[in-house]
Amino acid sequence: MNFQLTEEHLAVRDAAREFAQIELLPGVIDRDTEGKFPKEQVKKMGELGFMGMMVDPKYNGGGMDTISYVLAMEELSKIDASASVSMSVNNSLVCWGLEKYGTEAQKEKYLKPLAAGEILGAFCLSEPEAGSDATSQKTEAHLNGDHYLLNGTKNWITNGSSASIYLVIAQTDASKEHKGISVFIVEKGWEGFIIGKKEDKMGIRGSDTHSLMFTDVKVPIENRIREEGFGFTYAMQTLNGGRIGIAAQALGIASGAYELSLAYSKERKTFGKPIAQHQAIQFKLADMATQIEAARLLVYKAAWLKDNGEDYAHASAMAKLFASQVAMDVTIEAVQVHGGYGYVKEYHVERLMRDAKITQIYEGTSEIQKIVISRRILK
Ligand code: CAA
Repeated sequence: MNFQLTEEHLAVRDAAREFAQIELLPGVIDRDTEGKFPKEQVKKMGELGFMGMMVDPKYNGGGMDTISYVLAMEELSKIDASASVSMSVNNSLVCWGLEKYGTEAQKEKYLKPLAAGEILGAFCLSEPEAGSDATSQKTEAHLNGDHYLLNGTKNWITNGSSASIYLVIAQTDASKEHKGISVFIVEKGWEGFIIGKKEDKMGIRGSDTHSLMFTDVKVPIENRIREEGFGFTYAMQTLNGGRIGIAAQALGIASGAYELSLAYSKERKTFGKPIAQHQAIQFKLADMATQIEAARLLVYKAAWLKDNGEDYAHASAMAKLFASQVAMDVTIEAVQVHGGYGYVKEYHVERLMRDAKITQIYEGTSEIQKIVISRRILK
């Protein structure tokens, strides 16, 4: 077993860390308060190659491995989980799937600008009545000559109004249930495609989450990814990788809260000495550090399996399940370590605590991860 990161990995981690400090940290509290999408910052992330990290350079990607992606996600998430979820969706749910399953024409037209970070992508699976129960898609697409007519509503879509390209999962043959679900590339601005209300969320408030409405939207046949009926497999396979990204986000949120707590505990004095010298705080720091290290091992293992061509579906579910619980536990403790200061925005940990919660919900709730894991165990 080799736990050593390569020079390239360390360079990616350092670049992401520096970017987060210089570009994401200033303004992160205001963006959270105002619910403002980090537009300029995400644009710069694209210019630095963070939006298509694992894509082949011939399609404008960075040609990097999943470990590099995880390291970058972790660093950016320490500071701004709203920016990092945008990156996660673009990399894992949009670029990865387009590169693996798209036609050359689709890659040329859509993947290249997405991987270059010139435009953003969104992944549209969730519906008002199909969140965890993803097979219950009500959005429909029916062939009508040389195009499909797309009708339905999608909910909680990350990059909802900022994206230019939307991968929409829709039922093309309800009689076949999940084997009748397909996936289409839809462009913003097409007639009948309306971007609905923006969600006013508890956490990741800078992230741009919307509902989307499709009414008789004409989607050309060549914008279907693979054959009819492939949509559910597309969703499950991309989510397997997406969950590694969200696990890394959770790890970053936890690490960010821990690092702030460590620094604060050395400065803040009570009863005549820094609180880090009180055993009550030392025990908290020790627990936080241990939980984070355990989560990191699961996240890196899932990334390593993916990079080595092994099955990683259950490993990514385990990593997300565990890391998101660690994010919740560690951020709650971070607020406690900070005392009253932890409860105000200026000290960042209350935002990290609110941001942590979504990692137990999106890309499959913790309960969904347990379904994925237990089905594997019982197989
Ligand atoms: N990997 C690969 N294939 C999988 C899979 C996985 N993790 N999970 C299920 N499948 C396959 C099954 O093998 C089965 O294939 P076959 O029909 O060929 O045998 C097929 O999918 C159907 O599976 P099930 O019979 O198990 O279906 P189910 O309805 O009982 O449960 C589920 C499936 C795992 C619960 C699935 O619905 C699921 O993952 N739900 C959660 C969806 C989700 O994560 N949504 C998040 C939205 S995206 C998002 O949040 C992005 C964002 O904005 C940040």
